[in-house]
Amino acid sequence: MRKKIVAGNWKCNTTVQGGLELAKDVMAKVAESGDPEVQVVVCPPFVHITGVVSIVDGNQVKVGAQNCAAEPKGAFTGEVSAEMVKSTGADYVILGHSERREYYADNSAVLNKKLALALANGLTPIYCCGEPLAIREAGTQNEYVKKQFEETIFQLSEEDFRKLVIAYEPIWAIGTGKTASSAQAQEMHAFLRSAIAEKFGDEVAQATSILYGGSCNASNAKELFANPDVDGGLIGGASLDAVSFLAIVNGFRA
Ligand code: 13P
Repeated sequence: MRKKIVAGNWKCNTTVQGGLELAKDVMAKVAESGDPEVQVVVCPPFVHITGVVSIVDGNQVKVGAQNCAAEPKGAFTGEVSAEMVKSTGADYVILGHSERREYYADNSAVLNKKLALALANGLTPIYCCGEPLAIREAGTQNEYVKKQFEETIFQLSEEDFRKLVIAYEPIWAIGTGKTASSAQAQEMHAFLRSAIAEKFGDEVAQATSILYGGSCNASNAKELFANPDVDGGLIGGASLDAVSFLAIVNGFRA
């Protein structure tokens, strides 16, 4: 059975103090009412990570970074390496988020370096993909996202590919309040799973967790997660409040 995962991407929000409070609240709520079948992950800004790792019980809540450097170490002012992320006790790293692709030039070549370093350091990449609005309107979203795979994660060995989590985040749904419909999400996730099956075989495809992201919240999570190919969510805005985040975590419950 593939893992169900709900991950919070805090993006560039919260002070260290506010982030630690949020982590404490998430931890308390997971301990009290979390779904034991769902892996909860929080991805705070880099400077919060060590503190958050020390607050959460790693058996119940995992921690991830939102990015890592494309170089292992050295004279790269301001960068944070995959090895550093791992040394905090974090387990996950988001790579290929559309905001990084758009604002920080994380193209496929850069992403391949980051993926290799994350994997070499024992981090689980949450690899993001997704199309902009113009592509969706042209109806070529499947080809667009498949090309993202072909340029990056389809170049990994099967052994490394198995370590990934994938997040489908249509750009037009991120932070817009306009979520993909349940049918649109299922259609894309099923397509991606079939593309993975074609590349690495059905067993690998069935074992790969594919999360949905983009205006996922407490009121639409249940419907989105009811789809057979939606294995959870990557949550932005709604992960900044422990109550709404936990309501999403519990979206798998009948
Ligand atoms: P929102 O949930 O705020 O739309 O953000 C989604 C996202 O980008 C998660 O990585």
